Amino acid sequence: MRCTTTLFVFQSLVTGIIAARRSSCSDIRVVDLSHVHGPKPLTAPFFPPYSFNIVNRSYSPMLGGNWFEINYIGTSEHSGTHIDAPSHFYRYRKRMHEIPLDKLYGPGVIIDIRRQVSRNVNYRVKVSDIKRWEATHGRIPKGAVVLFNSGWSSRHPNPNRVFNTQNTSDITSYQFPSYEFSAITFLAKFRSVNIVGSDTPSIGDSPTSRVDLSNFTFLFQRNIPVVLNVANLDRLPLSGSTIFVPAINIYDGSGAPARIFATVPASKLKRRY
Ligand SMILES: *[C@@H]1O[C@H](CO)[C@@H](O)[C@H](O)[C@H]1NC(C)=O
Ligand SMILES: *[C@@H]1O[C@H](CO)[C@@H](O)[C@H](O)[C@H]1NC(C)=O
Ligand SMILES: *[C@@H]1O[C@H](CO)[C@@H](O)[C@H](O)[C@H]1NC(C)=O
Repeated sequence: MRCTTTLFVFQSLVTGIIAARRSSCSDIRVVDLSHVHGPKPLTAPFFPPYSFNIVNRSYSPMLGGNWFEINYIGTSEHSGTHIDAPSHFYRYRKRMHEIPLDKLYGPGVIIDIRRQVSRNVNYRVKVSDIKRWEATHGRIPKGAVVLFNSGWSSRHPNPNRVFNTQNTSDITSYQFPSYEFSAITFLAKFRSVNIVGSDTPSIGDSPTSRVDLSNFTFLFQRNIPVVLNVANLDRLPLSGSTIFVPAINIYDGSGAPARIFATVPASKLKRRY
């Protein structure tokens, strides 16, 4: 990283010495990891639907004849690119406004499973996939944001392609990549990660008649939030980015749509392929 930091020292009559640090980080790039929220943000069919109502879109006499636009939106917290607060599937765990901001960002750990998924759409990330990442990039850093890239992002915004089913009302027909339970417990117990997530719409729901939320509940019990439907992970290096999850600080929220983004040294930015 060619980021230079210069320390400026000023003498001021009033305040004594002021030291100011100025960074020249022009070689840092920002990568948007979110899908646009609407016109039909992806959500589970049994979650509340999205609405976008134009309230004012005209020159307003009340506001001095100026152009005035304002809309009213209704959205499930769990739609599009979003975060699940631990309270989503675990009673008495943190709701949105209780998650400290320093738990909402961290070093990006990208587990690339596109090759495995090309052979098996129900591929589950294994502990060995995580260990392989560590063999190349070192131990998962403290506070990491661990995400897998299965290539699912390109299926948005088509719900049939994202849930990979003819019938999105039938949740037992969903087929998409996820984590093995042992990979989730490994991350939660033996690596102190801030967030776990994926480019898929869920890390639960096995394609069986029995809904299995154990991957979520293991994380949520430990107050580790989950992020879902993350986009553009193919632009990130597998290590070396910093991922931010700026979700609205909704009082008592169980989740929130988020404009997730990453900062990456320009030299590490990847071309799409
Ligand atoms: C917004 O539009 C409504 C009618 O749709 C109008 O009554 C109201 O005055 C408008 N508000 C402003 C500030 O112009
Ligand atoms: C889709 O799944 C739902 C829920 O299982 C079921 O009620 C409905 O009949 C299915 N639709 C079709 C076209 O199979
Ligand atoms: C989550 O954990 C269960 C074990 O409890 C595992 O069978 C499943 O494959 C994992 N993934 C999903 C999508 O449920």
